[in-house]
This record gives sequence, structure tokens and C-alpha cells, in this order.
Amino acid sequence: MDVFQLQTPLVEFIRQTIRAQGPQSFAWFMQQALYHPERGYYSSGRCTIGRKGDYFTNVSVGPLFGQLLAGQFVEIWRRLGEINDFVIVEQGAHDGVFARDVLEFVQRRAREFFHALRYRIVEPFPILQRRQAQMLETFRHKLEWHDSLQPFTGVHFSNELLDAMPVRLINNGREKFVGLDGEKFVFVERPLFQGTTASESSSDNAAFNQPALDWIDEIAANLQRGYVIAVDYGCSDEDFQHSVQVRAGHRNLDSPFEQIGQVDMTMPVDWRSVVLRAEGNGLRAAGFTDQHHFLTGIISGIDCAGWDRSVIPDSKKATRELQTLLHPEMLGRAFQVLALAKNVDAEAAPLAGFKFARQPGAIG
Ligand SMILES: C[S@@+](CC[C@H](N)C(=O)[O-])C[C@H]1O[C@@H](n2cnc3c(N)ncnc32)[C@H](O)[C@@H]1O
Repeated sequence: MDVFQLQTPLVEFIRQTIRAQGPQSFAWFMQQALYHPERGYYSSGRCTIGRKGDYFTNVSVGPLFGQLLAGQFVEIWRRLGEINDFVIVEQGAHDGVFARDVLEFVQRRAREFFHALRYRIVEPFPILQRRQAQMLETFRHKLEWHDSLQPFTGVHFSNELLDAMPVRLINNGREKFVGLDGEKFVFVERPLFQGTTASESSSDNAAFNQPALDWIDEIAANLQRGYVIAVDYGCSDEDFQHSVQVRAGHRNLDSPFEQIGQVDMTMPVDWRSVVLRAEGNGLRAAGFTDQHHFLTGIISGIDCAGWDRSVIPDSKKATRELQTLLHPEMLGRAFQVLALAKNVDAEAAPLAGFKFARQPGAIG
């Protein structure tokens, strides 16, 4: 099979659009490949994560990741005064495994918190909503679904949400578009348009992630009081230079034009631009560190949060999960964690996850 010559309805739709309207931005192309309403890699439900799928995430490593994050959520709930209407909002919940891991754990280990919380999944795709509902059947009374963010007090959580958002490819005042050479997809470079906004031209780096900035605007508008915790892989240097990664069957493919709609496409997150936008919107950077330090902080903070130590792995399987999540050569360094806060005491000590961060609120 020639991987560049797939003749699927999605590929035909992309070709027809380019023929009719000329080259399209990479963001438009990535949006179709991942989120075309019926045929995208995610929106069609084709994506499988984990050993038998295309790639691993923290969540697919095992339940420990959700259990440790549950510890961080309990601490946040305490900081907000153990309120009764605490909401955990998750976006990018995929098949609902993280939600299940958190809810199963707090039901057993933090009953008061369990009674006080509601779990809200923001999920635009019906097929994924159905899968989540199946996975979370036992917790039906705790859950609600929305297709966009709604006002909330509590914590917003995401794991690998931002890296899956469609990006424009901008470099040195030029933008890469997707065009056609006969039937073949090719990149076509063009100078940036005259009407380019200040943020687009100032982010003259490898990628411009407008949906991530829109997402921050929405979070800022809906978070009444509490925290945002975003786990993702990316870069906090001023000189952000990365390229799109294409993943299938635990391999990286060479080109985004291979197996369009059948494979994952992802771009590392430019954390600086996210934090700048957040601060401009009244959110405070309350912590930034790598996953290794974040999870170590939670583990060592658990006593202070009034948890029993049974959260610490006590089986061979859990110990292996912990190694995978923490080890610098595995997921420990590759992933970073950003916390943003709104209407919470700025003088309070950092959250447990950030107590080993070099400068808890500083990026870079
Ligand atoms: C890389 S996967 C991560 C899945 C899961 N969080 C995990 O770690 O295993 C990205 C997920 O984000 C979802 N997603 C992308 N944009 C979204 C949005 N605006 N709202 C909700 N989910 C979104 C995709 O459908 C996909 O399920």
C-alpha cells in the first residue's frame, strides 16, 4: 500500500477543498485529519491509546496517575474550604479512564471529598461521550457532560489536550500551507498576510496554536475560583522550535501526509504563550515543573493532606507504573505540568505538586 495515496472520503474531501479554494493552512488540514465531524482520527472514534493502540499516555500507563492526581485534587478542595459544589472538569477525557481512576480512588480513600464533588466532562464528540458513559456507568450520578466549558468552581484538568490542537506553521515571517502537486499533498510557503495580528507575527516560531489561546480565554471566562492543571509535553524556552509529530502503532511517521485521518498528529506546547495569555486574562501562574518533580511532590505531600500512605504503590505493577511516570528517560522529563489559579490566596504555599519546582510560579 502506498501510504501517501490513500483514497478515503476524507482524503478526497481535503483534495477537493484545495482544488476549489487553493492551499489551506496547516491548522485547517490538521483539524480535518483529527476532527472532521465524521472522519477525523479522534471524532470518528478510531484512535486507540495504550499497548494495543497508537501511543501511550500517562493515563494508559495504569491507574496510578489518576490516583496521584486525585491526591492533588483533594488538596485543592481543602484549600477552597471543602466546599460542597466542587467540580472537577476534564477536557480531552477520551475513553473516560482517567475519570474512572480518580473516582474509584476517592470513593475508597476520600469519602467526604467524593460526596462533595461533581465530575464534568467537556466532550464535543458523541462517539467519545458514549464510550465515557459506558466506562463510567457506576458513577453515573456523579457525572455530567457538556460540549463546551460552563462556569465552575474547582479544578480543570487535562492530559495531552493542548498538544492535540491544530496549529499553523509559521517561521521567519512565512507560513506553510498544504497544497497539491497532482494528487500528492505538498507544503507551499507563503509570506504572512498583511492583516496578521501582533500575537501571530510575534510568535515567529515553529507553530502558532490559536486554539490553545482561545481555550485559555474560555477557561478564564468560566473559572470562578480554583485551579487549572494542564499536563502536556512541550517547551518553555523562548526559542520554541519543534515540528509536528505523527504517531501510529507506537512509531513516528515521517510526514503528516501519510495515512491522513488514520494516525495521530501532535505538536509540543509552547508553554510561554499559554502563560502569557493566561496572565493577560486574570489567571495567575501557580506552578510549573516537570512531571517527575510534580508527582514526587504529590507523593511526599500526601501525609500533609491528611491521606494515609496507602496511595504509595504497594504492588510490583504499581511500582512499575510509578517508574514509567517518574523516570527522566521515560515520561518524567518529557512531560510538564502547569497550574493556573484564580481567586485563591496568592500568598499560600505552592500546591503539593509544585513544592519541588525550582521556582513554583516561573516558566522556564
Ligand atoms: C492525545 S489525546 C489524550 C487523551 C487522554 N487525555 C489521555 O491522556 O489518554 C487528546 C484528546 O483530546 C481531545 N480533544 C481535542 N480537542 C478537544 C476539545 N476542544 N475539547 C475536548 N476534547 C478535545 C481529543 O478528542 C482526544 O480525545
